[in-house]
Amino acid sequence: MTKGRGRREEAFVVKGLAGRRQLAGSVTISGSKNAALPVLAATCLFENPVKLQNIPSIEDIWCMQELLGDLGAVVETPRKGTCIVDPRRVKKTTLNRYISQRLRASIILSGPLLARHKRVAFPHPGGCVIGERPIDIFLKGFQEMGARVNRRGEQYVLTAPRAGLTGADLFLRVPSVTATETFVMAAILARGITTIRNAALEPEVESLLRFLSSCGASISGIGTPTLTIHGGSVLKRRSPLYRAIPDRLEAGCFLIFGALCAKELVINRCNPDHLRSFLNVLSRLGVIFNVSGSRIVVRGMRRTQSKFTIKTHEYPGFPTDLQAPLAILLTQARGEHLIFETIFDERLQYLGDLVQMGADVKLWDAHRATIYGPTKIRARTLRSPDIRAGLAFLIAAAVAVGESTIHNVYAIDRGYERIEKKLQRIGLSIERVEV
Ligand code: EPZ
Repeated sequence: MTKGRGRREEAFVVKGLAGRRQLAGSVTISGSKNAALPVLAATCLFENPVKLQNIPSIEDIWCMQELLGDLGAVVETPRKGTCIVDPRRVKKTTLNRYISQRLRASIILSGPLLARHKRVAFPHPGGCVIGERPIDIFLKGFQEMGARVNRRGEQYVLTAPRAGLTGADLFLRVPSVTATETFVMAAILARGITTIRNAALEPEVESLLRFLSSCGASISGIGTPTLTIHGGSVLKRRSPLYRAIPDRLEAGCFLIFGALCAKELVINRCNPDHLRSFLNVLSRLGVIFNVSGSRIVVRGMRRTQSKFTIKTHEYPGFPTDLQAPLAILLTQARGEHLIFETIFDERLQYLGDLVQMGADVKLWDAHRATIYGPTKIRARTLRSPDIRAGLAFLIAAAVAVGESTIHNVYAIDRGYERIEKKLQRIGLSIERVEV
């Protein structure tokens, strides 16, 4: 696998198991992308180098590291999974346009840069095409903290008054994950007290806040929707060390592989507490699993009749990032199940390809679709539309009759570390090929 821009186009070729449960063995879950990304951005709040561990080797992480390097930070990766960021030479306050447009999470850097250097400029951030992804919550919150917002061509230019940002009482119109993370970082360096109401509760947010708090930031209300931050100065902790939490989204996908394709699959180093709503849905669908500590063992699925709605929701509700992978399970479950995607506007588009593969789907509108099962899935040539739907296509290809080719592997590599190696090790016939 080659890194980033300019890499050759690759595809996955998968021999489907035609519904047979032939995979077996164990997988170890990697560190969470969405936990590691904000902590990489948070390194700009520190006076000393920050060490991060259990960091996945994936495209989005490389992208954020490249962006930090472009700003002047020294980024080292002494060994797999470890990254050290020295923020002392960060002086530049304009985010590289080409890198930012590949990664929505680039916007998180606006918090620490604006608060510390009193200026930040960035283009509208890129990332997965899963619907309109506005940044109004960010702009409004920064204005309430005293920043001036200007639009210069493609760029947003934000400046803080000479004395810096000031604490404010912020109410988030929706509990945005990255906006919560960004405002906490800005508030740590702002003068006075900031309250963030309707804050996101995702485990990745909590992991960031606990880390910042352990390094001296004054944050109360962690794990609740109301956060209070007493701002003041840069974080001076010597040798700060962060260890990324396990990726609940990767664990969720392997649970589906286990339910559909395995006799027995052991999922190691995950946090079942972060998967409660997902495990609840799996139980209702008849998936057979056993949780013990940080391990989940999955042993197929009973084909009992069921009919219910799966509605995506902010944490602790059902995660939107597991909606597409779950849809593949629903094509194999007996009954009819309505998916109600409430977070993003264009996150059901992958269903068109699934129908071409033989799934029985009624799309009611941009947010709702009923899947009738079980149906036979046929192999097909596909193109990953985004990280999570790309992984869903891999699951569909594993279940299918025949050989599928999935193009735009880059989208899958953005979020999953060496996914084909993990799948080969449990017995799936999958190859990465250049096209
Ligand atoms: C985070 O994105 C995740 N990304 C996403 O994962 C995840 O799907 C999403 O949260 C929801 O859980 C990272 O953590 C890096 P939001 P984020 O702001 O923060 C609207 C993946 O595959 N909104 O919580 O960008 C927005 O349009 C990715 O790993 C505004 O309207 O999501 C959406 O409808 C994809 N205005 C809702 O809020 C704003 O200014 C929630 O989005 C900001 C957001």
